[in-house]
Amino acid sequence: MSEPAPTPSARTPIAHQASPAAAPLRGAVRVPGDKSISHRAIMMGALAEGTTTIEGLLEGADVMATIRAMRQLGATVTQGDGPGMWRVVGWGRQGPQEPADVLDMGNAGTGARLLAGLLAPWPLTAFLTGDGSLRKRPMKRVTAPLGRMGVGFATRAGDRLPMAIQGTVKGRPITYRLPVASAQVKSALMLAGLNCQGETVVIEPSPTRDHTENMLRHFGVPVSVEDTERGRTIRLTGPATLRAVHINVPGDPSSAAFPLVAALLVPGSDVRIENVGLNPLRTGLLTTLREMGADLQLEDVRDGAGEAMGTLHARHSALKAVDVPAERAPSMIDEYPILAMACAMAAGTSRLRGLEELRVKESDRLAATLALLQGNGVKAWVEGDDLFIEGSGGDPVPGGGVVATHMDHRLAMSAVVMGLASQKGLEVDDLSFVDTSFPGFLQLLGQLQQTPVGGKP
Ligand code: S3P
Repeated sequence: MSEPAPTPSARTPIAHQASPAAAPLRGAVRVPGDKSISHRAIMMGALAEGTTTIEGLLEGADVMATIRAMRQLGATVTQGDGPGMWRVVGWGRQGPQEPADVLDMGNAGTGARLLAGLLAPWPLTAFLTGDGSLRKRPMKRVTAPLGRMGVGFATRAGDRLPMAIQGTVKGRPITYRLPVASAQVKSALMLAGLNCQGETVVIEPSPTRDHTENMLRHFGVPVSVEDTERGRTIRLTGPATLRAVHINVPGDPSSAAFPLVAALLVPGSDVRIENVGLNPLRTGLLTTLREMGADLQLEDVRDGAGEAMGTLHARHSALKAVDVPAERAPSMIDEYPILAMACAMAAGTSRLRGLEELRVKESDRLAATLALLQGNGVKAWVEGDDLFIEGSGGDPVPGGGVVATHMDHRLAMSAVVMGLASQKGLEVDDLSFVDTSFPGFLQLLGQLQQTPVGGKP
């Protein structure tokens, strides 16, 4: 893919029949680059002085929207030789130019919220929009603290996109305790703090993914992190200059979750997923699956430029129900829909606690996951913010439903995995959004079902 699509929000729906697995899943595969790290690599490359080189970049629609926005703001972003290889010539101390047109972030909440922070401390006016899903998502979580820094916003009712941002070089650095655990909000404030005079402090009620902290340090910006009584406290002092670096993006653990759970559910499966990011603030799903009795090993664990990575090795397993504490949510926030598929085949009733944030993801993921389960013969219900799922005890779930994915890539992939582990298969209304985070998803599942049983995994 050499150029981003001209309008990230334009798509044609792809209906799909998700069939029961034709064969056990076997073999070794790699999943596309981490979405969180890819957005940050492109944005920080654009902010930096010099030429940043990236390998392993996720070339999905979300990151392509970020690339397009960085070009509109004056960075030169070009594809190198080979998949995932990119170069970014940053605008550095000169700052971004005012974009001549609207910045369309497509489906990407991370892209939109980080971009709001990135633009905040510069003297320009920019207009942000997104697709039908992103235009429903709340932006107040970033506009409220950035507003306190002195940045101007005009949003639609309910603080939704499209919105206008009026940045300022006279931004006041703030100390802000996040009302919800959100790495996107933390990152937006840190990016804004880079061009404010003085210390920006963000306090997290519970730790969230720290890719922004790790990558800023990699670009030469000191970031201090301290656990205090009030929570994890992150500090940086502006103005700070980023210096171009090389970035190696690991495979996305949130994408690896789909073939991983498929392997656990389909009898006879034995799958290795190589080169996966294993940042400890992203591994809540692995902890949970182990508690369920999953045969899941980590192999070849190593450090990949500040981020742990390694191979996940999963074999078909008899799973038991689990009770997931609310405090674990930040470390597996994107993995609940696929975890729900594993719970649907476990022995006993699982309880996934504290899922209020799922209501404001690419879709209302709590409602959509519940509908996916119920529509395919799984008994499930919601009490407050907790999801309960009665498992089949290892039998394939009935299937036979028509799944509405609501422009949500993770819902669509969870449905396909449920189809693999079902008696009748199921229909998915639209797979086109899978491309936001996992281009090649169906091909990868097909490839895993073609490795002969007894063949070398
Ligand atoms: C992300 C943070 C999470 C996550 C999203 C990626 C990030 O969102 O759901 O997919 O890259 O910072 P929240 O910050 O809203 O929890």
